[in-house]
Amino acid sequence: MPIYASASYWVLETQTTGYALGLNQAGLLAHCYWGVRLPFIKDYPPPPDPQAWASFDDAAHQTPEEYPGYAGMRYGEPCLKATFADGVRDVVLRFVAAEVADDATPELRIHLRDAAYPFRVTLHYRLHEDYDLIERWAVIANDGDTPISVERIWSAQWHLPPGDDYRLSHLTGRWVDEMHLRREPLVHGCKVLESRRLHTSHQHNPWFALDRGDANEDNGAVWFGVLAWSGNWKLAAEVADFAAARVSIGINDWDFAWRLNPGETFSAPSSYAGYTTAGFGGASRRLHDFIRDRMLPHGHSIHKVLYNSWEATLFDVDVASQIELAELAAAMGVELFVMDDGWFHGRNDDTSGLGDWRPDERKFPQGLTPLIERVNALGMEFGLWIEPEMVNPNSELYRAHPDWVIHFPTRDRTTARNQLILNIARPDVQAYLIEQIDRLLTTHNIAFIKWDMNRAVSEAGWPEAPGDPRELWVRYVQGLYHIWGTLRTRHPHVIWQSCSGGGGRADLGILCLADQIWVSDNTEPTTRLAIQEGFSQVFPANTMEAWVTDLGWADLPLAFRFHVSMCGALGIGGDLLRWSAERHAEAAHWVAVYKAIRPIIQFGDLYRLRSPHTHPFSAIQFVSKDRTEGVLFAFRTYLRSPATLPPLYLRGLDPAARYEVEGIDGVRSGQAWMSVGLRLDLSDFQSTMRRIWLV
Ligand code: GLA
Repeated sequence: MPIYASASYWVLETQTTGYALGLNQAGLLAHCYWGVRLPFIKDYPPPPDPQAWASFDDAAHQTPEEYPGYAGMRYGEPCLKATFADGVRDVVLRFVAAEVADDATPELRIHLRDAAYPFRVTLHYRLHEDYDLIERWAVIANDGDTPISVERIWSAQWHLPPGDDYRLSHLTGRWVDEMHLRREPLVHGCKVLESRRLHTSHQHNPWFALDRGDANEDNGAVWFGVLAWSGNWKLAAEVADFAAARVSIGINDWDFAWRLNPGETFSAPSSYAGYTTAGFGGASRRLHDFIRDRMLPHGHSIHKVLYNSWEATLFDVDVASQIELAELAAAMGVELFVMDDGWFHGRNDDTSGLGDWRPDERKFPQGLTPLIERVNALGMEFGLWIEPEMVNPNSELYRAHPDWVIHFPTRDRTTARNQLILNIARPDVQAYLIEQIDRLLTTHNIAFIKWDMNRAVSEAGWPEAPGDPRELWVRYVQGLYHIWGTLRTRHPHVIWQSCSGGGGRADLGILCLADQIWVSDNTEPTTRLAIQEGFSQVFPANTMEAWVTDLGWADLPLAFRFHVSMCGALGIGGDLLRWSAERHAEAAHWVAVYKAIRPIIQFGDLYRLRSPHTHPFSAIQFVSKDRTEGVLFAFRTYLRSPATLPPLYLRGLDPAARYEVEGIDGVRSGQAWMSVGLRLDLSDFQSTMRRIWLV
């Protein structure tokens, strides 16, 4: 049984993990265990009953509470902080009841209530057994007749076994340099990762992995988790007294406030976390499978090879230029032609047009249909770029509704890329955008939309806010989900891509709406290797749109460029008019090869064999779920000569089955390929792709 429940003790079991919580003698809901699944329920430890530490810390401070309120002598990070109408700022949570819903995804709900005020908290624990993941979120309710001002509501506090020897893995970056994997000791104190930018951000990603410093890609205990939220978020990884170790995660409380009116509820977004002894690779594969199977709208549809005209034509699009590119793309085997920025009313550069979502009359005198029809006649689907959340001051929309942007009335409105942010917390702005984009999708044969967001916030004001203006941070994201969700429901066949100047909006919240992420505006392949490695910690390869472009053209063979992009959902973004006939022919070859192997890449298991972050010679391998075939990619950038390339040890094969690896003599057992390994010969800036077959 996945959930064991008594009156005061609960055990949540997934395929290989166990998680236990219970009421201690003081009545606090305490964390008891999170790790490998134990044979008997009685094996799980009882709720801890720590002692006070002299007069400076009471027992509650020492208790690993599942969801601490800010109350009493607690000095660690609380999950909930609120002020009642009478000014009391102490949230004393008491257990009321628990229930188990034993559905396909079993769920434990624990109801807590404030000791004195009509303020309820429900903690949700949903089990995704096959993925070894637990989903947690909290819902608060005001049952009284005065408002409650909420200053923090996090989704979960994840407790680890006590220890001050943990290592934290996380992702950092900036625009054109996203998703760099960092591993660092988690020392005493609190390490905070966050976004204050309104979107998930290029700087940090709401993902963590903790190990004891000894895990590697294949082995070792790893606790890992994410937050499914596309706005301001915060992660606090703490090591406190007596080596208490925990990670709290949720909506960022920085500049946050929420007025919870009588009768209202508020739901925090979900945090998903898991434990594995299969190292960082095992942690990633659990997330990949879960995202593919349970989150993505079209997680099991093959992504088409696309061409995007942005780097070729920039804003200079029109029917003739796009058709010229489309014809070349189709001849290469491209299946989806995407027109990027520049197509809509008044958009000649980045100073104007955003907000006016109708085809530019000068560039497209007969609208988009002639282009779309030609693209379709060439056997391709058609896709389009939009940036709905933004407006240029030089646009009809802004001239009509200058009050629709995020702003403070007495402050300058800071533009970035000449644009301001529409306040999509407002229902009237939501309705406008839904209407505009719905019209585009209804009147055109559009199969794919790239949804961009090209700036971070400034002057985060909302003058006509109905509640606390600081609710903007959350209501904006709710508005985003509402607009996108409505459009998705009305146009379920459309594949959406989440882009925010590259990878600024990559998270599990957006992946319930978008099938893909544009990982980075940096398409230079050698840099991209490390960006892709970071991305793969969390996200499966089918969500990773990767283009072959002209960036860094002189240095790298076309095969290298293709191999890098073939590790995700392949796209092409180069200026095809400048490509030679030989280049077109070679590109067509790689597109055909990719089509043959893409089910393994998009739906298979991903193994990082050697990190491009730390090695100039790196490798990644994909294996089909039934382990009958695989594909290996290896890349060498620059290595001082003479250099000997180390062997690569394949992964994920059936040890007893016999396999062949393309270009290497002999049939060997899966075990041999994994234990003896294989050697490749590559010179600088060379790459190789080898298929692997069961024989
Ligand atoms: C952003 C995107 C690019 C491109 C441009 C268009 O930078 O990340 O891929 O779409 O906008 O303006």
